Amino acid sequence: MRKHIIACTISEEKKAIYNVIKLLSLLFLCRIAASEITQAAAQLNDVELVQRCFNALYNSTPTTFGSFMISSPVSLNISQVWRSAKESSFPLTVFSTATMDRVHHLESLCHMLPGSAVSAAVYLPLVQPHGAFLLPRNEAVVQETQAKLQEVFNRLEGSSDTCSLRLLLLTEVSADRALASLVPINALRNAALLAIRTPLAAMIDVDLAISDSLKSILSDPNRVQAMQQAATSFWVLPAWESESHLTQQDAQNTVLSAIKGDKQRLGMLWQSRHLRMFSEDIFPQGHNVTDYRRWLSAGQPYSVRYARGYEPWGITRRERHLMMPYDIRFRGCFRDKVTQVASLAYINTSFAAVPDAWLVHQPHKLSAAASIAVGRTRTQGSRVEALQQVVFYRGINTTKFMLHKAHSLVTSDDALGAMAAGRYHPIVGAQFKNCRDSLPWF
Ligand SMILES: *[C@@H]1O[C@H](CO)[C@@H](O)[C@H](O)[C@H]1NC(C)=O
Ligand SMILES: *[C@@H]1O[C@H](CO)[C@@H](O)[C@H](O)[C@H]1NC(C)=O
Ligand SMILES: *[C@@H]1O[C@H](CO)[C@@H](O)[C@H](O)[C@H]1NC(C)=O
Ligand SMILES: *[C@@H]1O[C@H](CO)[C@@H](O)[C@H](O)[C@H]1NC(C)=O
Repeated sequence: MRKHIIACTISEEKKAIYNVIKLLSLLFLCRIAASEITQAAAQLNDVELVQRCFNALYNSTPTTFGSFMISSPVSLNISQVWRSAKESSFPLTVFSTATMDRVHHLESLCHMLPGSAVSAAVYLPLVQPHGAFLLPRNEAVVQETQAKLQEVFNRLEGSSDTCSLRLLLLTEVSADRALASLVPINALRNAALLAIRTPLAAMIDVDLAISDSLKSILSDPNRVQAMQQAATSFWVLPAWESESHLTQQDAQNTVLSAIKGDKQRLGMLWQSRHLRMFSEDIFPQGHNVTDYRRWLSAGQPYSVRYARGYEPWGITRRERHLMMPYDIRFRGCFRDKVTQVASLAYINTSFAAVPDAWLVHQPHKLSAAASIAVGRTRTQGSRVEALQQVVFYRGINTTKFMLHKAHSLVTSDDALGAMAAGRYHPIVGAQFKNCRDSLPWF
């Protein structure tokens, strides 16, 4: 027994010595590793820095419909980033989001903004029951998507008259098939916002076309300076869309004519019922206060009085967006942007219409959620089905689509109530906060 104890002590001593050596060598290795990490950090470009601070707080637990309904913050993984080597000549970054079926719109957006930067967040949902590792099928989808985006990036980078692109691919592991069709649009907008380095920012949805005239405004130092100096202004770019009675070909020609032409042409397209105010039929309060009739004859910027429901697109200082980023409780398609514009008004942002630049919505296939919202579901497949699946929730039989709509409306009312009470802070999630607090350019 005693012998054993002695043996044991000796071995403990040996172990201790061994441990000290191990510790020293570990420390040494750590120092090398640390210096390598510092060097690597020095070599990371700014979009990779966004990826690092964002993914540092990635939570791989799959989202469920229940977690969405109680507004648990969505967690996204930035799976890959691309950053153009092109310098942007204007102090503006347009930021936007896309799903893979809209990536061609993203490509044309970049073509419409030569000299500007574009920061885009692309969303890829991955449906599986657990989050720790990806199922082979999803691993393959990620790789395929990365390869497709690489091609898009290469094409844009290889072409001379294009934007300076910052592209982020974000994945979400979801245990619920319906959630995969409810794009976490605001979390994506915020991710794209993080990668903006210019003083001016404009959130422009990916399916909008931009008038050629924006480029001449941005080329005029006086105009740009005026926009930058008006610290609390939001410069509205009026949005149009083709009339619904047009054939697809006519609609496309109308869009092209409207972005290439001047305001006189716009006036003609409007009078001949080719163009109308964006969303005039389903949500007129979204843009009506811009006063399109007045705008058509305006030669100077004029101020627009905010009214509930207003949701213009336009240019503002990046700081405005950082003060009031997008509330990530919204997914799918109700009031996500209306609520953010209300929050800009809440911090006393003044809206002014830009007289000589505009946007035109491009016709496209609707997302599953949007197609249910407007009652056009005949052509959609499994995504619509997942959203229209009947579930029993708090004593009623309803669909996941209806629950998401109710969730959006309640969330928006809650936010507007908090604004009225002077205590609104958008919910942005830990990933966005970590980046906002640690990235050197904020
Ligand atoms: C998250 O993204 C990183 C790349 O930044 C990748 O290495 C990792 O596998 C991704 N994780 C998941 C669960 O997708
Ligand atoms: C739109 O605004 C005009 C005034 O600019 C007003 O006369 C009209 O009633 C408004 N329409 C809607 C639907 O709010
Ligand atoms: C907005 O204006 C109101 C009224 O003048 C003021 O009480 C409030 O503090 C302002 N808010 C911000 C964020 O400037
Ligand atoms: C909900 O649907 C189930 C199955 O169709 C049915 O048995 C139940 O009575 C319904 N409940 C209510 C409250 O409608």
